[in-house]
Amino acid sequence: MVKIVTLNTERLILLQWQPNDYAPFFELNNDPAVMQYYPNILTKLESDTLATKFRDLIEKQGWGFWSVKLKEDNQFIGFVGLNKPDTVLLFSPCVEIGWRLAKNYWGKGYATEAANAALKYAFETLQLDEVVSFTSVHNIRSKSVMEKLHMVNTMQNFDHPNIPAEHKLREHALYKITKAQWVDINL
Ligand SMILES: CC(C)(COP(=O)(O)OP(=O)(O)OC[C@H]1O[C@@H](n2cnc3c(N)ncnc32)[C@H](O)[C@@H]1OP(=O)(O)O)[C@@H](O)C(=O)NCCC(=O)NCCS
Repeated sequence: MVKIVTLNTERLILLQWQPNDYAPFFELNNDPAVMQYYPNILTKLESDTLATKFRDLIEKQGWGFWSVKLKEDNQFIGFVGLNKPDTVLLFSPCVEIGWRLAKNYWGKGYATEAANAALKYAFETLQLDEVVSFTSVHNIRSKSVMEKLHMVNTMQNFDHPNIPAEHKLREHALYKITKAQWVDINL
């Protein structure tokens, strides 16, 4: 049996998905501001299917895109975590770090705080050599989180294969951090 991993930070807990996460997850997936850099907002069915996919992956491997909750009131605020992308990319196989928070919780440092805990887990426990992150070149907020994590812009932008040619979100920036870089920063 795999041990389901929970991570704690000063203000947050990253944990397995619970049934009552599904409703607030749909709210954020249905919010055009949150989904600005994705091809579409999600329907309830799409959102629930995604939550179940994340839950099942955590069930199977112990880690993944965790549900993120505020310690002070147990409020669900979104997801942050690690994932092996389904799509074959130029730099596959890889483990990515990613995040999506409800708009009310932006601008408080929560994404960076949770992602730092996920990176620590990636390098100290999973012993990964490298973690990548990628997003639309226009997604300044997400790139700013990558930079706060000391990830390095590879300057190797790529066209995401799941986004149609000519679509304004097709070109993605690729950031990476190696275990050696992470150890250096966290000495
Ligand atoms: C990308 C996303 C997670 C970033 O959220 P965010 O709140 O901007 O990022 P952080 O949690 O690191 O917060 C940083 C901000 O919090 C502020 N902040 C406030 N209190 C803070 C604290 N105690 N500690 C650190 N930062 C704090 C910082 O000054 C910074 O503000 P700024 O953005 O005005 O410079 C969020 O915009 C989002 O969910 N977007 C939609 C989904 C998405 O695009 N995901 C990525 C697709 S690949």
